Amino acid sequence: MNVLILGSGGREHAFAWKIAQSSLLNTLYVAPGNAGTASVAKNVNIPVTDFDAIANFCLENNINYIIVGPEAPLVEGIYDYFSSNDELKHIAVVGPSKKGAQLEGSKRFAKEFMIKHSIPTAKYKAFTAISLTEGYAFLERLKPPYVLKADGLAAGKGVLILNNLEEAKNELKEMLQNNKFGEASKEVVIEEFLKGIELSVFVLTDGESYKILPEAKDYKRIGEGDTGLNTGGMGAISPVPFADELFLTRVENDIVIPTINGLKKDNIEYKGFVFIGLMNVAGAPYVIEYNVRMGDPETEVVLPRIKSDLLDLFEGVASQTLSERDLEITDQTACTVMAVSGGYPEAYEKGKKINGVDLVTESIAFHAGTTLHKEDVLTNGGRVLAVSSYGKNKKEALEKSYASLSKISFENMYYRKDIGFDLN
Ligand code: AMP
Ligand code: GLY
Repeated sequence: MNVLILGSGGREHAFAWKIAQSSLLNTLYVAPGNAGTASVAKNVNIPVTDFDAIANFCLENNINYIIVGPEAPLVEGIYDYFSSNDELKHIAVVGPSKKGAQLEGSKRFAKEFMIKHSIPTAKYKAFTAISLTEGYAFLERLKPPYVLKADGLAAGKGVLILNNLEEAKNELKEMLQNNKFGEASKEVVIEEFLKGIELSVFVLTDGESYKILPEAKDYKRIGEGDTGLNTGGMGAISPVPFADELFLTRVENDIVIPTINGLKKDNIEYKGFVFIGLMNVAGAPYVIEYNVRMGDPETEVVLPRIKSDLLDLFEGVASQTLSERDLEITDQTACTVMAVSGGYPEAYEKGKKINGVDLVTESIAFHAGTTLHKEDVLTNGGRVLAVSSYGKNKKEALEKSYASLSKISFENMYYRKDIGFDLN
């Protein structure tokens, strides 16, 4: 089989690393990829949302499967682009249809879906500029903190959590009337604040059946002790100790099954990943958000824990025979720690030479934002390397990642030294 992965981050390097191990693989391509994907696949210089160029490449190179890393191509309809064209429909896109991608592309759509299918989530109401005063009245009825979410994609920045009512009203106005997040905040979901611990559960579905992949917890804040600005993710751990069998059974029964059945009932084609962001509220799972792709850096711990052949699972997704495929998961712990550019998530410099990655033997150094320049590997993003390790427990895995990170250097490199600090 020939496979094309779309994307250029640590998630895509992890996909490439895993798929490169498949006995079913013939040739693996990544568009556009990074210096890490270049070591296990062929990089192709095509933007992830240039569907015409992707289609031409797929036809010329006999691609069988497209694995979509980021959400943008899914929300823009890459699945429908391929499945509705007679020349292209033999190429399987692992990902939801454009309609299904609305679970991530529109917070209001996701909330309506959850309410319709009785999936536990925070109470909410959606508002537009016309209903701004009703939005104020709704805020007045809620207790702080106030949660405001831009309806559309806002590069992970569209959620505001505010302690003060006046500030919340002001931000609501900024979003709805003054386009704080552009088009994305033309509509705003206001929801009840849920108090608990977060984790993520990942599901692979062929639209009929599903497999639950290893769960993970990520660390979004830049600073130690979960302080400072939000980032794309500074590290992750799997399994999550507080997600015991009882909790995960509740997740499956109360959330995963109604989600898959809801997609079917609503005639939404969905052959891909569902990333369910959850809050554990005193033992009860609530959905915070759906994403229609894998997480980054969660993928860098989830895929290392999957022992089965990922291409075999994707074959099951494409032919709707997923229920006949095996999913074997190692009981080892996997962790990842992200090394980022100084200044990230605000302004940072690129093009710094990275040293020492070749000295890493106890961990897998997934490249997140890197590029090749002649013989050198240079930084090319805020998040630069995700250093993943296995261990018999969290402590052992983390010790390996930190030992590996001590061999790596680039100017102004930063990483959190407390990943997993809150877990037993
Ligand atoms: P989202 O982009 O929807 O995942 O929201 C970003 C972050 O805001 C989440 O990871 C949570 O930490 C937080 N958050 C979102 N919704 C809620 C909520 N209803 N209650 C508490 N925290 C929330
Ligand atoms: N790490 C969070 C995400 O991928 O959305």
